[in-house]
Amino acid sequence: MGTSTHLHVTAWALAFILFIVVVILNKSGKAKGAKIVQMILRLDYLLILYSGGTLLANYFGAPQMGEAIFKGLAGIWAIFAMEMISLKSGREEPTKSWWIQLVIAVILTMLLGFGRLGLGFLP
Ligand code: HEM
Repeated sequence: MGTSTHLHVTAWALAFILFIVVVILNKSGKAKGAKIVQMILRLDYLLILYSGGTLLANYFGAPQMGEAIFKGLAGIWAIFAMEMISLKSGREEPTKSWWIQLVIAVILTMLLGFGRLGLGFLP
């Protein structure tokens, strides 16, 4: 795995943890704490985008370029769903449709990231 792959996997694994913490804090009425963790989560989104963008650049001109672009779009969708759930859980608005979207986006992202694209595992 290259450096960008390590950074990418670390960044989205951290995002999932921070996201769950934001939701739990919001659900327990700790709005202030949730806001702080949400700011850190947003910085982590930038890390995901940066590392993902770097990985995507490796696919430029490769036969799997189209698939890699879809992988990136699914990743952006997952980030968007996490952001919407974070916001809506803070406002006590319904989040169900965004949870469904998050599950679909993460499954797609994982299938395309681990299952099909392989450059990340090259030295
Ligand atoms: C929450 C969001 C995301 C998740 C869960 C995620 C997950 C993954 C996973 C599981 C891999 C495979 C890692 C590996 O090869 O070892 C991967 C690789 C990759 N990701 Fe993401 N990703 C996310 C966001 C993004 C974004 C926003 C972009 C584009 C801007 C992106 C672009 C890529 C690319 C191009 C690869 C390279 C695949 C490879 O060479 O193996 N990802 N991602």
